[in-house]
Amino acid sequence: MPQKDLHEANRQSWNLATEAHNSHKHDQAAFFRAGGSTLFSDEIELLGDIHGKALLHLQCNAGQDTLSLARLGASVTGVDISDTAIEFARQLAAESGIQAAFERADIFDWLEMTSETFDIVFTSYGALAWLDDLKAWARGIARVLKPNGRLVLIDFHPIFGVFEEGWRLTYDYMGGTQLTFGGVGDYVALSGSALTPSGYLEGIVEFRNPHPSHEFCWGVSDIVTAILEAGMRLVQLREYPYSNGFKRFSDMRELPGHRYAMPVGMPQLPLMLGIVASTATGA
Ligand SMILES: C[S@@+](CC[C@H](N)C(=O)[O-])C[C@H]1O[C@@H](n2cnc3c(N)ncnc32)[C@H](O)[C@@H]1O
Repeated sequence: MPQKDLHEANRQSWNLATEAHNSHKHDQAAFFRAGGSTLFSDEIELLGDIHGKALLHLQCNAGQDTLSLARLGASVTGVDISDTAIEFARQLAAESGIQAAFERADIFDWLEMTSETFDIVFTSYGALAWLDDLKAWARGIARVLKPNGRLVLIDFHPIFGVFEEGWRLTYDYMGGTQLTFGGVGDYVALSGSALTPSGYLEGIVEFRNPHPSHEFCWGVSDIVTAILEAGMRLVQLREYPYSNGFKRFSDMRELPGHRYAMPVGMPQLPLMLGIVASTATGA
Protein backbone atom coordinates (compact mmCIF):
# COMPACT_ATOMS: atom_id res chain seq x y z
CA MET A 1 0.00 0.00 0.00
CA PRO A 2 1.38 3.43 -0.91
CA GLN A 3 2.16 5.45 2.25
CA LYS A 4 0.58 8.83 1.58
CA ASP A 5 2.14 10.53 4.61
CA LEU A 6 5.61 9.84 3.20
CA HIS A 7 4.56 11.10 -0.23
CA GLU A 8 3.29 14.34 1.34
CA ALA A 9 6.61 14.78 3.13
CA ASN A 10 8.38 14.27 -0.19
CA ARG A 11 6.08 16.85 -1.76
CA GLN A 12 7.29 19.48 0.76
CA SER A 13 10.88 18.51 0.17
CA TRP A 14 10.56 18.63 -3.64
CA ASN A 15 8.76 21.99 -3.52
CA LEU A 16 11.80 23.69 -2.01
CA ALA A 17 14.37 21.71 -3.97
CA THR A 18 12.66 22.51 -7.30
CA GLU A 19 12.88 26.22 -6.51
CA ALA A 20 16.60 25.86 -5.83
CA HIS A 21 17.16 23.76 -8.97
CA ASN A 22 15.40 26.21 -11.27
CA SER A 23 17.23 29.16 -9.73
CA HIS A 24 20.37 27.87 -11.52
CA LYS A 25 18.80 27.62 -14.98
CA HIS A 26 19.17 30.59 -17.26
CA ASP A 27 16.09 31.71 -19.30
CA GLN A 28 14.63 28.28 -20.06
CA ALA A 29 11.74 29.65 -22.12
CA ALA A 30 14.21 31.30 -24.53
CA PHE A 31 16.09 27.98 -24.71
CA PHE A 32 12.91 26.16 -25.76
CA ARG A 33 11.78 28.95 -28.12
CA ALA A 34 15.14 28.56 -29.87
CA GLY A 35 14.42 24.83 -30.40
CA GLY A 36 16.28 23.46 -27.34
CA SER A 37 15.72 19.99 -25.88
CA THR A 38 16.72 18.51 -22.52
CA LEU A 39 16.47 14.88 -23.68
CA PHE A 40 19.42 12.51 -24.03
CA SER A 41 19.78 10.27 -27.08
CA ASP A 42 19.27 7.19 -24.86
CA GLU A 43 15.63 7.92 -24.05
CA ILE A 44 14.96 9.12 -27.60
CA GLU A 45 16.19 5.74 -28.85
CA LEU A 46 14.05 3.79 -26.35
CA LEU A 47 10.99 5.90 -27.18
CA GLY A 48 11.28 5.58 -30.96
CA ASP A 49 8.97 7.72 -33.07
CA ILE A 50 6.49 9.49 -30.75
CA HIS A 51 4.97 11.79 -33.32
CA GLY A 52 1.18 11.92 -32.91
CA LYS A 53 1.26 9.69 -29.80
CA ALA A 54 -0.56 10.38 -26.54
CA LEU A 55 2.25 10.36 -23.98
CA LEU A 56 2.03 10.45 -20.18
CA HIS A 57 5.17 11.66 -18.41
CA LEU A 58 5.11 10.49 -14.80
CA GLN A 59 7.07 12.45 -12.15
CA CYS A 60 7.75 15.16 -14.73
CA ASN A 61 9.12 17.67 -12.19
CA ALA A 62 9.27 21.18 -13.74
CA GLY A 63 8.38 19.90 -17.21
CA GLN A 64 11.56 20.47 -19.22
CA ASP A 65 11.67 16.89 -20.54
CA THR A 66 7.88 16.92 -21.02
CA LEU A 67 8.16 19.98 -23.27
CA SER A 68 11.05 18.38 -25.13
CA LEU A 69 8.83 15.33 -25.76
CA ALA A 70 6.04 17.61 -27.01
CA ARG A 71 8.58 19.12 -29.40
CA LEU A 72 9.00 15.65 -30.93
CA GLY A 73 5.32 15.70 -31.86
CA ALA A 74 3.68 13.86 -28.95
CA SER A 75 0.58 15.07 -27.19
CA VAL A 76 1.91 15.18 -23.62
CA THR A 77 0.56 15.16 -20.09
CA GLY A 78 2.98 15.58 -17.20
CA VAL A 79 2.08 14.57 -13.65
CA ASP A 80 4.05 15.40 -10.53
CA ILE A 81 3.33 15.72 -6.81
CA SER A 82 5.24 18.99 -6.38
CA ASP A 83 3.16 22.18 -6.50
CA THR A 84 6.23 24.28 -7.31
CA ALA A 85 7.25 21.95 -10.13
CA ILE A 86 3.82 21.96 -11.78
CA GLU A 87 3.40 25.74 -11.44
CA PHE A 88 6.81 26.15 -13.01
CA ALA A 89 6.03 23.66 -15.80
CA ARG A 90 2.79 25.45 -16.72
CA GLN A 91 4.53 28.80 -16.85
CA LEU A 92 7.40 27.40 -18.90
CA ALA A 93 4.95 25.85 -21.39
CA ALA A 94 3.11 29.16 -21.77
CA GLU A 95 6.33 31.20 -22.16
CA SER A 96 7.85 28.68 -24.57
CA GLY A 97 4.72 28.42 -26.70
CA ILE A 98 4.74 24.61 -26.42
CA GLN A 99 1.43 22.82 -25.89
CA ALA A 100 1.38 20.47 -22.87
CA ALA A 101 -0.95 19.55 -20.01
CA PHE A 102 0.36 19.41 -16.45
CA GLU A 103 -1.37 17.99 -13.41
CA ARG A 104 -0.31 18.15 -9.80
CA ALA A 105 -1.06 14.83 -8.14
CA ASP A 106 0.40 11.86 -6.37
CA ILE A 107 0.87 9.46 -9.31
CA PHE A 108 -0.61 6.59 -7.28
CA ASP A 109 -3.92 8.53 -6.98
CA TRP A 110 -3.80 9.89 -10.51
CA LEU A 111 -3.20 6.52 -12.18
CA GLU A 112 -6.19 5.09 -10.30
CA MET A 113 -8.56 7.99 -10.97
CA THR A 114 -7.89 9.13 -14.53
CA SER A 115 -10.18 8.19 -17.40
CA GLU A 116 -7.51 9.08 -19.99
CA THR A 117 -5.50 6.44 -21.82
CA PHE A 118 -2.09 6.74 -23.48
CA ASP A 119 0.07 5.18 -26.18
CA ILE A 120 3.20 5.68 -24.09
CA VAL A 121 3.95 6.13 -20.41
CA PHE A 122 7.41 7.62 -19.92
CA THR A 123 9.30 7.98 -16.66
CA SER A 124 12.95 8.82 -16.12
CA TYR A 125 16.02 9.84 -14.14
CA GLY A 126 15.37 9.67 -10.42
CA ALA A 127 11.76 8.45 -10.54
CA LEU A 128 11.67 4.93 -9.05
CA ALA A 129 13.44 5.78 -5.81
CA TRP A 130 10.38 7.82 -4.71
CA LEU A 131 7.91 4.97 -5.11
CA ASP A 132 7.09 2.78 -2.13
CA ASP A 133 4.78 0.35 -3.93
CA LEU A 134 6.12 -0.77 -7.30
CA LYS A 135 3.32 -3.28 -7.83
CA ALA A 136 0.64 -0.57 -7.49
CA TRP A 137 2.75 1.68 -9.76
CA ALA A 138 2.97 -0.96 -12.50
CA ARG A 139 -0.73 -1.87 -12.21
CA GLY A 140 -1.60 1.84 -12.55
CA ILE A 141 0.54 2.15 -15.67
CA ALA A 142 -0.99 -0.95 -17.25
CA ARG A 143 -4.42 0.52 -16.47
CA VAL A 144 -3.80 3.79 -18.38
CA LEU A 145 -2.00 2.25 -21.36
CA LYS A 146 -3.97 1.53 -24.52
CA PRO A 147 -3.72 -1.94 -26.08
CA ASN A 148 -0.28 -2.04 -27.78
CA GLY A 149 0.80 0.78 -25.47
CA ARG A 150 4.35 0.99 -24.11
CA LEU A 151 6.02 1.83 -20.84
CA VAL A 152 9.40 3.46 -21.44
CA LEU A 153 11.58 3.78 -18.36
CA ILE A 154 15.12 5.10 -18.07
CA ASP A 155 16.49 5.59 -14.59
CA PHE A 156 19.65 5.34 -12.56
CA HIS A 157 20.60 1.71 -12.06
CA PRO A 158 19.70 0.15 -8.69
CA ILE A 159 23.34 -0.91 -8.20
CA PHE A 160 24.44 2.75 -8.50
CA GLY A 161 22.10 3.51 -5.59
CA VAL A 162 23.85 1.27 -3.06
CA PHE A 163 26.96 3.47 -2.80
CA GLU A 164 27.96 6.65 -1.02
CA GLU A 165 30.87 8.95 -1.92
CA GLY A 166 34.06 6.88 -2.24
CA TRP A 167 31.96 3.97 -3.59
CA ARG A 168 31.31 2.88 -0.01
CA LEU A 169 28.71 0.10 -0.01
CA THR A 170 26.02 1.77 2.13
CA TYR A 171 22.42 1.04 1.15
CA ASP A 172 20.29 -2.03 0.44
CA TYR A 173 20.01 -3.05 -3.19
CA MET A 174 16.45 -4.39 -3.23
CA GLY A 175 13.21 -5.14 -1.45
CA GLY A 176 11.81 -1.62 -1.00
CA THR A 177 13.84 -0.69 2.10
CA GLN A 178 12.88 2.83 3.19
CA LEU A 179 15.65 5.41 3.53
CA THR A 180 15.05 8.77 5.19
CA PHE A 181 17.38 11.62 4.28
CA GLY A 182 17.80 15.22 5.38
CA GLY A 183 15.89 16.50 2.35
CA VAL A 184 16.19 16.68 -1.46
CA GLY A 185 19.44 18.47 -2.13
CA ASP A 186 20.59 20.90 -4.77
CA TYR A 187 22.12 18.38 -7.16
CA VAL A 188 21.69 20.87 -10.01
CA ALA A 189 24.24 23.18 -8.36
CA LEU A 190 26.57 20.18 -7.91
CA SER A 191 26.16 19.07 -11.55
CA GLY A 192 26.67 22.60 -12.95
CA SER A 193 26.40 22.82 -16.74
CA ALA A 194 25.43 19.11 -17.05
CA LEU A 195 21.87 19.87 -15.91
CA THR A 196 21.56 23.43 -17.14
CA PRO A 197 21.58 23.34 -20.95
CA SER A 198 20.11 26.87 -21.07
CA GLY A 199 23.12 28.18 -19.12
CA TYR A 200 24.18 28.10 -15.46
CA LEU A 201 23.27 30.83 -12.97
CA GLU A 202 24.57 31.09 -9.40
CA GLY A 203 20.98 31.24 -8.09
CA ILE A 204 20.23 30.05 -4.56
CA VAL A 205 23.53 29.51 -2.74
CA GLU A 206 24.22 26.83 -0.09
CA PHE A 207 20.69 25.48 -0.23
CA ARG A 208 19.61 23.53 2.85
CA ASN A 209 16.33 21.63 2.71
CA PRO A 210 14.55 21.50 6.09
CA HIS A 211 12.02 18.90 4.85
CA PRO A 212 13.22 15.28 5.20
CA SER A 213 12.66 13.02 2.22
CA HIS A 214 11.86 9.32 1.99
CA GLU A 215 13.25 7.04 -0.69
CA PHE A 216 13.06 3.33 -1.42
CA CYS A 217 15.55 0.72 -2.64
CA TRP A 218 14.41 -1.40 -5.58
CA GLY A 219 16.44 -4.00 -7.45
CA VAL A 220 16.13 -4.94 -11.11
CA SER A 221 14.04 -8.02 -10.29
CA ASP A 222 11.64 -5.94 -8.16
CA ILE A 223 11.07 -3.60 -11.11
CA VAL A 224 10.76 -6.26 -13.79
CA THR A 225 8.54 -8.51 -11.66
CA ALA A 226 6.15 -5.62 -10.91
CA ILE A 227 5.89 -4.89 -14.64
CA LEU A 228 5.31 -8.54 -15.57
CA GLU A 229 2.78 -9.11 -12.78
CA ALA A 230 0.82 -6.08 -14.02
CA GLY A 231 0.33 -7.97 -17.30
CA MET A 232 2.89 -6.12 -19.43
CA ARG A 233 5.43 -7.85 -21.64
CA LEU A 234 9.15 -7.03 -21.45
CA VAL A 235 10.38 -5.75 -24.83
CA GLN A 236 13.82 -4.34 -23.95
CA LEU A 237 16.05 -4.28 -20.90
CA ARG A 238 19.29 -2.31 -21.19
CA GLU A 239 22.11 -1.40 -18.87
CA TYR A 240 24.34 1.60 -19.54
CA PRO A 241 27.88 2.09 -18.19
CA TYR A 242 27.31 5.81 -17.62
CA SER A 243 24.98 8.20 -15.86
CA ASN A 244 23.33 10.98 -17.86
CA GLY A 245 23.68 14.46 -16.40
CA PHE A 246 24.38 13.23 -12.87
CA LYS A 247 27.89 13.29 -11.45
CA ARG A 248 26.90 11.54 -8.25
CA PHE A 249 30.44 11.11 -6.92
CA SER A 250 33.39 13.47 -7.25
CA ASP A 251 35.74 10.90 -8.86
CA MET A 252 33.40 9.96 -11.72
CA ARG A 253 34.92 10.19 -15.18
CA GLU A 254 33.34 12.71 -17.53
CA LEU A 255 32.42 11.49 -21.01
CA PRO A 256 31.25 13.66 -23.90
CA GLY A 257 27.61 14.77 -23.81
CA HIS A 258 27.33 15.30 -20.03
CA ARG A 259 27.66 11.64 -19.18
CA TYR A 260 29.59 10.30 -16.19
CA ALA A 261 31.24 6.88 -15.94
CA MET A 262 33.01 4.84 -13.25
CA PRO A 263 36.40 6.27 -12.20
CA VAL A 264 39.49 5.20 -14.16
CA GLY A 265 40.85 1.91 -12.81
CA MET A 266 37.59 0.75 -11.23
CA PRO A 267 35.49 -2.12 -12.61
CA GLN A 268 32.65 -0.98 -14.85
CA LEU A 269 29.18 -1.16 -13.31
CA PRO A 270 25.86 -0.37 -14.95
CA LEU A 271 24.84 3.14 -13.91
CA MET A 272 21.53 3.41 -15.78
CA LEU A 273 18.74 0.99 -16.57
CA GLY A 274 16.41 1.19 -19.58
CA ILE A 275 13.18 -0.79 -19.89
CA VAL A 276 10.54 -0.94 -22.57
CA ALA A 277 7.42 -2.97 -21.77
CA SER A 278 4.26 -3.40 -23.76
CA THR A 279 0.58 -4.09 -23.19
CA ALA A 280 0.48 -5.93 -26.52
CA THR A 281 -0.73 -9.49 -26.24
CA GLY A 282 0.70 -12.34 -28.31
CA ALA A 283 4.19 -12.75 -29.75
C1 LIG B 1 14.30 13.41 -9.81
S1 LIG B 1 12.74 14.07 -10.16
C2 LIG B 1 12.39 13.42 -11.74
C3 LIG B 1 12.81 14.37 -12.79
C4 LIG B 1 12.30 13.99 -14.15
N1 LIG B 1 13.03 12.88 -14.69
C5 LIG B 1 12.29 15.13 -15.13
O1 LIG B 1 11.85 14.90 -16.24
O2 LIG B 1 12.68 16.25 -14.81
C6 LIG B 1 11.64 13.13 -9.14
C7 LIG B 1 10.22 13.71 -9.18
O3 LIG B 1 9.33 12.77 -8.60
C8 LIG B 1 8.28 13.53 -8.00
N2 LIG B 1 7.55 12.63 -7.10
C9 LIG B 1 8.01 11.98 -6.01
N3 LIG B 1 7.04 11.22 -5.47
C10 LIG B 1 5.94 11.37 -6.26
C11 LIG B 1 4.63 10.85 -6.24
N4 LIG B 1 4.22 9.99 -5.29
N5 LIG B 1 3.74 11.25 -7.19
C12 LIG B 1 4.12 12.15 -8.15
N6 LIG B 1 5.35 12.67 -8.22
C13 LIG B 1 6.26 12.29 -7.30
C14 LIG B 1 9.01 14.67 -7.34
O4 LIG B 1 8.14 15.76 -7.04
C15 LIG B 1 10.06 15.01 -8.41
O5 LIG B 1 9.62 16.03 -9.25
